[in-house]
Amino acid sequence: MRPAVIAPSILSADFACLGQEVNDVLSAGADIVHFDVMDNHYVPNLTFGPMICQALRAHGISAPIDVHLMVEPVDAMIQAFADAGASMISFHPEASKHLDRSIQLIKDKGCKAGLALNPGTPLAVLECVLDKLDYVLLMSVNPGFGGQSFIPSTLSKIKQLRKLLGEKQLDISIEVDGGINITNIADVRAAGADMFVAGSAIFNQANYHSVIQQMRSALATV
Ligand code: DX5
Ligand code: ZN
Repeated sequence: MRPAVIAPSILSADFACLGQEVNDVLSAGADIVHFDVMDNHYVPNLTFGPMICQALRAHGISAPIDVHLMVEPVDAMIQAFADAGASMISFHPEASKHLDRSIQLIKDKGCKAGLALNPGTPLAVLECVLDKLDYVLLMSVNPGFGGQSFIPSTLSKIKQLRKLLGEKQLDISIEVDGGINITNIADVRAAGADMFVAGSAIFNQANYHSVIQQMRSALATV
């Protein structure tokens, strides 16, 4: 399996000093920056747009920026975030009328392409597009808010997807997003995930380095 990637969600960061927060969490050992974009339409919450992504790049952030679009429609935001410096972009299949076209748009813009599946969305939606994806984001909470509890049935969904990827011999990452913490991250790894999004579990602690180290130690037990 691929090395584990820890992706702090800046949804739980202090927005009043976002540039410093992102610098701090990367210095503390995070691999990439998870960027939750919500539009108060596809999900009942509103966060930030491409200007904030561009501002982080201008601030000197060079780590990969992993944009998770919870917006509908998606195509204009794909272009705007790619132009703003995104490295990876995922969206929810329910939010695009033309899945294949939206995936191709991400790739044409030079970004890695992911599809994000809600807890209630079956893996079957991947069938016709799986080989075009760089990663699949499995939501382990319903999208819209940080700080929710991990939905346990996600573990069997991760295992099922890992098995499917093995059968098809596809080298695609599995990113898991929602309710991940130092206690459950090893189970998520054991099920077959290789990218771990964590917002509140990291940013609600005073010492980001310590919590990321504890996550790495837990991952090393698998
Ligand atoms: C939810 C977001 C997640 C979430 C992660 O819609 O996609 O990235 O905020 O936050 P925690 O780790 O607090 O569940
Ligand atoms: Zn997310």
